[in-house]
Amino acid sequence: MSYANSRIPASAQVGVHDSLARLVDRHLAEPFRKPYADYNRAAFDAALTGWDSRAPLILDAGCGVGHSTIQLARAYPGHWVIGVDQSEERLTRRKPYPDALLPRNMVFVRADLVDFWRLLADAGLRLDRHYILYPNPWPKIGHLGRRWHGHPVFPWIPRLGGVLECRSNWQVYIEEFTFALERACGRSFAWARFEAPSPLTPFERKYRDSGQPLFHVVADLGAGAPPSGEPR
Ligand SMILES: C[S@@+](CC[C@H](N)C(=O)[O-])C[C@H]1O[C@@H](n2cnc3c(N)ncnc32)[C@H](O)[C@@H]1O
Repeated sequence: MSYANSRIPASAQVGVHDSLARLVDRHLAEPFRKPYADYNRAAFDAALTGWDSRAPLILDAGCGVGHSTIQLARAYPGHWVIGVDQSEERLTRRKPYPDALLPRNMVFVRADLVDFWRLLADAGLRLDRHYILYPNPWPKIGHLGRRWHGHPVFPWIPRLGGVLECRSNWQVYIEEFTFALERACGRSFAWARFEAPSPLTPFERKYRDSGQPLFHVVADLGAGAPPSGEPR
């Protein structure tokens, strides 16, 4: 796939997956109890080492090479911004700025979000802002369970509260993500097509430069759910 020639995910699926409601309901009803991996616990501790325990938190979930994390840290200098990705190679890829110019109110950690989201909730932490930017779409019909809203960890995402934004170049992903959020929170949210004159991430830049439409949902989840409660 060459630059500015990327494709919208091709899928036989045209709308919200027929099984999504059932899957989300099952995940809401049956808490996910996969044990935490040690490296995710260590990453969680590392993510909070430089935090003063007072600054509001921003999570850039699946931050890739971290350009969005840097931009968010600049835009919100009073926040502590955590960029999480499972790929060490992406996280350590050379940044477009010298280290000395990188904001100090941010940290990058290599972790699996499946554990990281739950570790945040277990610690009783709440997010002020939460970004899931261009998650892997998994467009095959049979891959619903690999999309974040079809995954057993999904209930922990709205539980973390704050203003949650998910962006994708695949309309179906955002329709489904919104549908699942509504099911988890019991209220409606609006998804929309949007323009990205100043792209926040490399994927966003590539999709924009390829002339693709971009879609997002921005949901104000308030304080999320109480730490001890079930996801809804
Ligand atoms: C399509 S890329 C988007 C990266 C970045 N947000 C952007 O827009 O440029 C999806 C990212 O999610 C990360 N990712 C996928 N599954 C993950 C998981 N379980 N835990 C942490 N990161 C994950 C991948 O490593 C990849 O960097």
